[in-house]
Amino acid sequence: MDTPNLEWGKLPFGYIPTDYNTRCLYSNGAWGEVELSSSPFITLHIGATALHYGQGTFEGMKAFLGVDGKVRVFRWQDNWERICFSSEGVLMPAIPKDKFKKAVFETVKLNQRFIPPYGTGASLYIRPLIIGSGAKVGVSPADEYMLIVFVTPVGPYFPQGFKGVDIQLVRDVDRAAPLGTGRFKVGGNYAASLSSLVRAGKEGFKTVLYLDAKEKKYIDECGPANFFGIKNNTYITPDSTSILRSITNLSLCTLAEDMGMKVERRRVPVEELSEFEEAGACGTAAIITPIKSIQDRETGKVYTIGKGTDEPGPVCTKLYNRLQGIQYGTESDRFGWTEVVE
Ligand code: PLP
Ligand code: COI
Repeated sequence: MDTPNLEWGKLPFGYIPTDYNTRCLYSNGAWGEVELSSSPFITLHIGATALHYGQGTFEGMKAFLGVDGKVRVFRWQDNWERICFSSEGVLMPAIPKDKFKKAVFETVKLNQRFIPPYGTGASLYIRPLIIGSGAKVGVSPADEYMLIVFVTPVGPYFPQGFKGVDIQLVRDVDRAAPLGTGRFKVGGNYAASLSSLVRAGKEGFKTVLYLDAKEKKYIDECGPANFFGIKNNTYITPDSTSILRSITNLSLCTLAEDMGMKVERRRVPVEELSEFEEAGACGTAAIITPIKSIQDRETGKVYTIGKGTDEPGPVCTKLYNRLQGIQYGTESDRFGWTEVVE
């Protein structure tokens, strides 16, 4: 097994070709067998509902090569539950748990040589997706679907790593409506976010903070990550019908509680930004990205978080170390979040 010639410590969050992916097809009312492919391409009907009407969903999870040489997949069962939830949201059939697990674990195992070594800060990103592959021209769900699982080695989503970032609060773009598809991991939400994300990048910000679309009073989420703030020994994260329920955020809530903090999941008014001692964006890709400032694009108002320096605060640091400790196997997995790839 050749080791790929990659600079593991400098990997971007991007697509690097790997050896194999897996697929599983749904037709005549049933899912078939999980099959292996070495091609990064699929043949798709030009009328596929995924292409026209966005009938599709995806997931993001990671596998980590631990200090002990074991490969651990983080909370895959939660991603399976969420892909079923998203599938239901856009009228696709649920993928059975055993098929999802087989596709994920086989794909990781077959691409072992691409799992970044321990200590490089990188990991193997796992991207399952389910798409409507059957043809329809009227707006209706397809009769055929395809699960694909591919993997690619990645570094941190925000390339500066575990350092404070400046982000931009936007009011002229909504990522998702309160009763829309924001809570499902479907492509349309990301299409809706592209213009404001790219604009924020050009204006010097790492990502965007979206507000609730109805009242524009409360914090929703942070580009492709959830938002949290810390004050008075409390971990506070927005409750909203239009955000993705982040598995990383759920994990941080558990860890914060375990560290003796209070946890509040509730509406978070924009003005509260001025009260946070620390804040962060969290997600599989973002891990914990500490936020050092938030600028309101419309009013120009800047909310400085803590000291406003690159240096992450003590709570973010402790949460980050504990989360990564469990993922890389340096801390015991008390909550049963990881599964070793045998
Ligand atoms: N919010 C959005 C919009 C996302 O795309 C993601 C990434 O999956 C998250 C939050 C973080 O979720 P998780 O921690 O489950 O990766
Ligand atoms: C993830 O964190 O897994 C995501 O899906 C974010 C992404 C869209 C890059």
